[in-house]
Amino acid sequence: MNIVFDESIGVFKLDTSNTSYLIGIVDEEGFVGHLYYGPYISDTDIAYLARINENPFVPSANNRDRGSFLDTFPMEMPGSNVGDYRESAIEIEDVNGHTAVSLLYKGHRIRNGKPKLTGLPATFGAEEDCMTLEIDTIDKTLGLEVTLRYSVFKDVDVITRSCSVKNVSETTVFLTRISSMSLDMDQEDYRLLTLHGSWARERHMDYREIGYGRTNVGSFRGESSHQEHPFMALVSEKATQETGRVYGFNFVYSGNFLAQVEKNQFDNLRVQMGIHPKNFKFEICPGEVFTAPEVTMVCSDKGLGYMSRTYHDLYRNHLIRSPYKEKERPILINNWEATYFDFDTDKLLSIAREAKDAGIEMLVMDDGWFGNRNDDNSGLGDWFVNEKKLHGGLKYLVDEVNKLGLKFGIWFEPEMISPDSALYRAHPDWAIAIPDRTPCRLRNQFVLDITRAEVREYIYRSVSDILHSANIEYVKWDMNRQLTDLGSVSLGKENQGELSHRYVLAVYELQERILCEFPNLLLENCSGGGARFDPGMLYYSPQIWCSDDTDAIERLSIQEGTALVYPLSSIGAHVSVCPNHTVGRVTPFETRGNVALAGTFGYELDITKLPKEERELIPIQTAMYHKYNKLVREGDYYRIASYAENHLYDCYEVISKDKKEVLVTYVQVLNQPNSHSRIIKLAGLNPNMRYREEEGEIIYYGDTLMHAGIQIQNMWGDFQSKLIHFTMVEG
Ligand code: GLA
Repeated sequence: MNIVFDESIGVFKLDTSNTSYLIGIVDEEGFVGHLYYGPYISDTDIAYLARINENPFVPSANNRDRGSFLDTFPMEMPGSNVGDYRESAIEIEDVNGHTAVSLLYKGHRIRNGKPKLTGLPATFGAEEDCMTLEIDTIDKTLGLEVTLRYSVFKDVDVITRSCSVKNVSETTVFLTRISSMSLDMDQEDYRLLTLHGSWARERHMDYREIGYGRTNVGSFRGESSHQEHPFMALVSEKATQETGRVYGFNFVYSGNFLAQVEKNQFDNLRVQMGIHPKNFKFEICPGEVFTAPEVTMVCSDKGLGYMSRTYHDLYRNHLIRSPYKEKERPILINNWEATYFDFDTDKLLSIAREAKDAGIEMLVMDDGWFGNRNDDNSGLGDWFVNEKKLHGGLKYLVDEVNKLGLKFGIWFEPEMISPDSALYRAHPDWAIAIPDRTPCRLRNQFVLDITRAEVREYIYRSVSDILHSANIEYVKWDMNRQLTDLGSVSLGKENQGELSHRYVLAVYELQERILCEFPNLLLENCSGGGARFDPGMLYYSPQIWCSDDTDAIERLSIQEGTALVYPLSSIGAHVSVCPNHTVGRVTPFETRGNVALAGTFGYELDITKLPKEERELIPIQTAMYHKYNKLVREGDYYRIASYAENHLYDCYEVISKDKKEVLVTYVQVLNQPNSHSRIIKLAGLNPNMRYREEEGEIIYYGDTLMHAGIQIQNMWGDFQSKLIHFTMVEG
């Protein structure tokens, strides 16, 4: 890792172990241009890549055709309305209603470490683990300073970008668009890969060609969303899992986003990621600074697999902060699919008793324990224990669960309010709404205006009082509807466009405050399943509920797309009953366990009602979790085959960093008549070391396992699966 500035040619060079990123200061005016991002290169003097030695010339040589320069030059932070017709990274509205911005070099700093982003989650590292470059740019006419921030890491091939906008003028300015990064590059043979989904069908991989004009995905739902994901990759046509060029971009933010690629008249690409400009207008008063969230960028010349492993390492080592991040998480049993709203103390204790016998370690009480909440039509906001259900109170229940030897966890949906609740009757104006317009209901609920300090305080007190009232060691923080009817009584008419961003900042502030007060709390974020599975939330919770769909087969594609970016240790995954409550599919209990193992692992069923044959498998599965969790949590992930692609089977592998232990998960989704046994080629092994398959006698060299592969016999029936475990033979 290194960052240098060659003053004689005005070029910055940022290096990770295997990648380089070069920026050039061009022309006497000081345009900040992008020169290169890709595999590591040795030279710094590559200013020719800015193509300013061909037509059109730089403005100082050809001001007559200034527009031609501005519309082709690869800008690091393109402004707007001054001659670059490609997408702007920043747009403003000044007090006179004008919108032009043009940013030129002012100065820079290079330092060890990485500064925090005020109020925002971001990757971090010690002084010796990362370096940061800050380039200050300025629009002198506006009095607007934009600092471009880049960090490189020693142990991962990642470059992060963010920026902040400071008003150094004497008048207010409104920011109407801000991209945290903008990257101009040549289109070689890249396709765009994004993660697309819906409720119960999150993060399916989706490839598309990049045509002329603008291609984008985004969310303006107030959360990162089920539908599109704040991630995109440019994937070379020739790339495979383990070869070829891939650029990944991921937004460390949990709200509205826009991820966009623009292909222009010269076949260049402009790649951008930032807060979605729809409904966004943020006032920056004189002296104030607006900080844009971070984008993490990975350039891999070793396919998608290396990109995924790089992201996993980045997030495990430099984003997740929880004390649980390196620990085995307690195996939990959640009562949602077991009871829905219909439970009481006795029911929960009966589940806990049986769970303890089976090797489960924590009971999580889901929705319905508070207020008058017997279905999803009422009660949100009334965070008072419903003693009709929990007779004896919450502390009694928790103590009894603890006495059985289990930990206790609880569900909240703190950001919400039911129209049928005591809270709404007392404070109808606390819901996000526009005066005189009936707000849209979703799941019969409204969203609390947590941009207001008194509303935040109420939520904070409600959650912390409950957590103080008993020995609660885990919280599932849910968020079950998107934002609509954006209106806040606390914001002026010029400031309503700030609501969505301020909302996300408020979520971060609340979770930070709770975690400061309860530093040992295991927090799991959730949003109607996986609508807020993003790096922003990972900064607060080491695990996120991945999807409400617990069907093992649906989970294959959901977890494949999620693991494309996020470590397995962060993926909330449970075994549930069949027929599955979302799709009605019946799969073997073993397969449900094997698939959930590639995540945090737990149960979501009524264990007291489970058929005997399934109940008997739980101690075997919990033992399996203890045996493999360290490997799954800390190892390197390799995708070997994708059911989403081949429609027959799925296969992935986790290998320990020292390459001594490998776990292969194979799922035969559909049996195929009259077909050969399947050969599966492992990856990432030490070719010269010998590995023994745990169940078999045979010992193979790593090269044999990787190049010749292993044989998997057909299994009888659909949805069958097996785990294959290899350990290195010492000596
Ligand atoms: C959401 C969550 C579920 C469950 C319900 C409770 O849908 O994703 O896991 O907690 O809410 O209402």
